[in-house]
This record gives sequence, C-alpha cells and structure tokens, in this order.
Amino acid sequence: MRSADWFGGNTKDSYLHRAWMRRGNPDSTLTGKRPQIAILNTASDLAPCNMHLNEVAQSVKNGIWEAGGVPYNLPMVSLGESNVRPTAMLWRNMVAMAAEEMIRANPVDGVVLLGGCDKTIPALLMGASSVNLPAIVISGGPMLNGTFKGKLLGCGTGVWKFSEEVRAGKMSQEDFYNSEKSMIRSKGHCNTMGTASTMSSMAELLGMSLPGLAGVPAPDSRLLQGAHESGVRIVEMVEENLKPSDIMTKGAFHNAIVALGAIGGSTNAVVHLLAMAGRLGVDLSLDDFDRIGSHIPLLVNLQPAGEFLMEDLFRAGGLTAVMKEVERHLDRTAITVTGKPYVDSIQNAEIFDEIVIKKYDAPLQPEAGIAVLRGNIAPDGAVIKPAAASKELLVHTGKAVIFESIEDFHARIDDPNLDVDENSVLVLRGCGPKGYPGMPEVSNMALPKKLLEKGIVDLVRICDGRMSGTAFGTVVLHVSPEGALGGPLAKLQNGDVIELNVPARTLNVKISDAELAARTPSAAMVAALADSDRGWERLYIDHVEQSHLGADLDFLRGASGSKTPRE
Ligand code: FES
Repeated sequence: MRSADWFGGNTKDSYLHRAWMRRGNPDSTLTGKRPQIAILNTASDLAPCNMHLNEVAQSVKNGIWEAGGVPYNLPMVSLGESNVRPTAMLWRNMVAMAAEEMIRANPVDGVVLLGGCDKTIPALLMGASSVNLPAIVISGGPMLNGTFKGKLLGCGTGVWKFSEEVRAGKMSQEDFYNSEKSMIRSKGHCNTMGTASTMSSMAELLGMSLPGLAGVPAPDSRLLQGAHESGVRIVEMVEENLKPSDIMTKGAFHNAIVALGAIGGSTNAVVHLLAMAGRLGVDLSLDDFDRIGSHIPLLVNLQPAGEFLMEDLFRAGGLTAVMKEVERHLDRTAITVTGKPYVDSIQNAEIFDEIVIKKYDAPLQPEAGIAVLRGNIAPDGAVIKPAAASKELLVHTGKAVIFESIEDFHARIDDPNLDVDENSVLVLRGCGPKGYPGMPEVSNMALPKKLLEKGIVDLVRICDGRMSGTAFGTVVLHVSPEGALGGPLAKLQNGDVIELNVPARTLNVKISDAELAARTPSAAMVAALADSDRGWERLYIDHVEQSHLGADLDFLRGASGSKTPRE
C-alpha cells in the first residue's frame, strides 16, 4: 500500500501520521495494510447540481468499509455552472490541479471521484489521470423531469427557448417567470443531454464508472446503491492495482466518441476529452472526433436535439441500451473499472421505449457526431454539432456581421439599424481561452429581435468560444486559433462573404490568401488579449492552450505520478 509509507512501521513519523488520524477509528485501520480511499467530493451549496453529493459520499463510505478499506471525505473546489462568473471553465484546470496535488500529497491508495455539474467530472478525471492511482467516478445523476403547462421543460434548453419567445412576443413575462419555478424539480444535474449528462456518459464509456450508473436520476435509490457498490469496487481496484492509464486507453476514448454521437452529446466533451487524453499521453486529436464519431447515428431523442429528458432515457433502458445499438462501432478491447471489456456490460441491455431510444436502423438523425471544420477562418479547426443545427443551414453562404465581444453583441444585436438579415452570418470573436479567459458559453448568440419577429429561428453563427450543451442552433464554435491571438478570425470584416459547408467540412471567407494575410487584426482583437496582473487568471492566460488541444494549461499535460518528491 502506498499509504504504508505514512502509517506502516513504528517510527517517529508513522507515530505522528497515525496519532493525528485515529479519531476513534480502530487500530486495524492504520496498520498500512488496509486501502486508504479518498472521496474527492465536489458537494457545495453554491453548486446546486452537486448539493446532494454528501449523501452519495456516505453510501460510498459504507461500501469502502464493507470491502475492508478506510474512507476519507476530501472536499474539492466545486463549480456551480449557473453561478460562477465569468465562466466555470476558467477553473476547470484549477480543480484538476487541486485534485492532482491533493491526491498525491495525501496518504491515499485510491480515489472516488464525485461530480455532476458540468466541469466537475472532467476536472476530477484530469487530476486523477495525472496521478494515476486507482480511481472510480460516480456522477450525481440528473434531476427529474420538469414540466410547464403540461409540456416537458428541460433545464437550460427551456431557458433559451422561452427567452427567445418572450423577445418575439410569443410568451408573456408572467409565464416566463412562472416557468422558472417548474424547471428544477429535484436534486441532480441538468436533465437535458447537456454537458453534465454528456460527461457522466463519457466517464462511463471511458470505463471509469460502474457500467449502467451514468444517468441514474439523482433521487433514485439505485444511485446510492451504485455508490455503495463503487465504494466496494475501489477497494478491490487498489488490491488489483487497476489504474486510470490501464482503463482510459485510446480504445476507451474511441468508445466515448462513438457514444458522443449516439447520444447527441455536448460539444464541450471535445475540449474535456482532449484535455484528459493530454494528461494520459493518449494520442487523440480533434480530427479523431470527426473520423470516429461524425457518421454515428443519433439514437437518443433528448433535448436539445430531440424531445425528452434524462429521466425518460433511464426509463427507456439507459445508456447501456443505446450503446448496445452501436456495439458494431465499439472498441472491444477497452475495459472498465470492473477489469472486464466495456462491451461485456451491454450484452443484456434492452430498449423499453423506442420513441426515446431509437433503433440503429431508424435513428433520429443518420449522422450526428461532432463535425470538425477547417478553412482559412479556422486553420487549426472548429467544431459544429449537426444534431443541434438546422439542416438547411449546413451549407450556407452569407455576409458576416461582426461583434468584437459579447458586450458589443448585447449592445447592438437589437439595434433596428443593424445590417442583418436571414442570410447573414453572425461572427462573435474575442471569446477564446485567452481572450475571454475560460472561453465562455456565448457562441449560441441570441437572434436579432427584428428577425425573430419575422419568424426566423436560426442563423449561422461563428465564434471562438463554447456553447452550452443544452443549447441548439447552427453554431460553429471553438474556432482555432482564437481571435485574440490575431489569427484569421480577428481579420474578418463586416460584409465579408462566409462559406460554411458542413458536408465538405469547410469554413472559409471568400477572399484570397494574399488579401487575408495582408489584413491586420481588428484593433479590438489586439486589445482583447485579456490582461490580468494577478492570481489564477494571470496564470491561466499565460499557460492555457488553444481549444483544439483541450484548453488545458501547457504545464499540466502529462502525468506526475503518485510519488511525493520529499518526506
Ligand atoms: Fe449544473 Fe447544468 S447547471 S449541470
């Protein structure tokens, strides 16, 4: 046991380590022979989606005790997506760094990762990957379905939809306010196929959760049962020395990307999976998402791409039933925390409602995975989620309407004199990892009021930021390099003709290479390279990588291992 370095033997140091940790535990817990397990717990009252994780942690503890381990609650920085400003993504890497350092610094042999709200699971997985001690993920699970006036109300997605309806004069302010009370019915994370649901599914497909646990609704007693069983399993994993690097192989990332297409998952998974792969030294690139996932059919009829919510998916058979349908695309060698191949876990899965989970041959959409675009606007790539886009806009040519920042956008989008029509392409820049530290979810720009009033519901939009997993629209995002670095995006001008061709995977401005090279970046973009003189933000701006690499900090790539350098 690694923890025997702290607790084994009978020296001055082991005396010191044991004495402080006794606190009523029996002698047998601190002999250096029983696995010491930290539960990295992102519970917080200010992260409402994770509020209930202390209850989950208790079930994990019970399982760890039962299996002969010794559990410790280890609170982690928690990120409440709906609360923290400017964006929770600014601190994903901070949580990952804290997780890595705290796992390594403490006398633990294995870790349980408790997350839910968007950034918490990827951050914990990044940190745990760099230390590479046995680890298992439990997602806090989605909240129950919300309804308003008899119709399903998905969190996130409903906000975007209703706010547009209010602006278009189709919904009253009173109904808008009242719907707010119906949206969040229970504990748990967002119930659409947003980033939280996506990342809990990714954790399971990466092999890091007990199969079948992702998507169990937060109030369902089977979540606590799964937490207990995960507590038992982590102790066994320590005894087997089954580590993240054994599980999160290229094959596991392949399976996660297949799942991303089949569930119509969030584009945020792209940056998170790339960042995790960077920690593990797995050779994963942006193009792998297109190569492996873009032809995968969308089988899950969940908002924002479809109609239903996570509770319905669970009732209809859950993630394992979805993956059984796409089994032909899965890597059969990739294993899970069980030590067995992932594909073994889906053999008995069944679909119980074919309206919610479609069969492979009758999908919601035939090709739904992330498409990766390149061209003179995005030489390092950009992504689009065709499942959330309007089919008729996937091939589109239109004139650019440029916004230099989200503030500029808010100030001008509803100006009656704004030169914009239904063919326009809205371009928002200055929102990349360095330009707006954290790369906020602003890419799904609201449409101009005057077009909404004409019944226009979608426009092509291009941005170097991210988009909420609960959002929809024909939105090209993660444009790399970002505008603040002075690349091509920074050189676009109002009226430039933009050509988007998703089937051909291209995104270009119709000017010559020579003219584009000769242009200087807009003055606003030159100024947009965010300037901060202290703290985490300074460190972040100096070291964050571009989105096509996962937006991790450059010095956090790779593994540090579990060895502590000094006593
Ligand atoms: Fe927490 Fe959506 S706000 S998961």
